[in-house]
Amino acid sequence: MASYHSIAPVLCMLALLFYGGNALHDSVLKTTLYIKQSFAKDQRTLGDGTVIINWPIKDGPGAAANTIGHAEGLTTLANEPSHFWVTCHAGSSLQVMGLHGSKKDLPQSQWSVMGGTGQLTMARGIIKYNITQEDSSSRTFELYIYVYYTTILAFSDTRGNP
Ligand SMILES: *[C@@H]1O[C@H](CO)[C@@H](O)[C@H](O)[C@H]1NC(C)=O
Repeated sequence: MASYHSIAPVLCMLALLFYGGNALHDSVLKTTLYIKQSFAKDQRTLGDGTVIINWPIKDGPGAAANTIGHAEGLTTLANEPSHFWVTCHAGSSLQVMGLHGSKKDLPQSQWSVMGGTGQLTMARGIIKYNITQEDSSSRTFELYIYVYYTTILAFSDTRGNP
């Protein structure tokens, strides 16, 4: 599996914003990716209303698209009458949380990006999704990702060693 940030230069529009006098710089990750959820694989039920997920993240909507990462985490049926699921996952390098539903219940929603690792340290932003495909075996989320981040290239541990 290719790591998420290794494909970033191809998929992402990177804009470097420099702030006066600050050695850190903010970057923008703005891209569209796809999550393919298959109900019979890449996820398993932990208990009533809680599912462990490992959904592939794709670079396109079709069958020929490449898998470029995984949304790994948990989803919980938080609002049973509405069929809204709270999903916490790490899209390889981004930590994400938000609600999702089926195409009927919640065809579009937003997830918050609360952090990141690797090249996407100090990430914060928003992912909007639209469910573009759904049948009895699978569902495709089209993700519009808009994230600011600041890459921490290197840091020392608390003892001051490199
Ligand atoms: C969401 O996806 C559906 C199915 O592809 C499409 O018809 C609709 O226009 C999309 N909505 C938005 C807001 O992009």
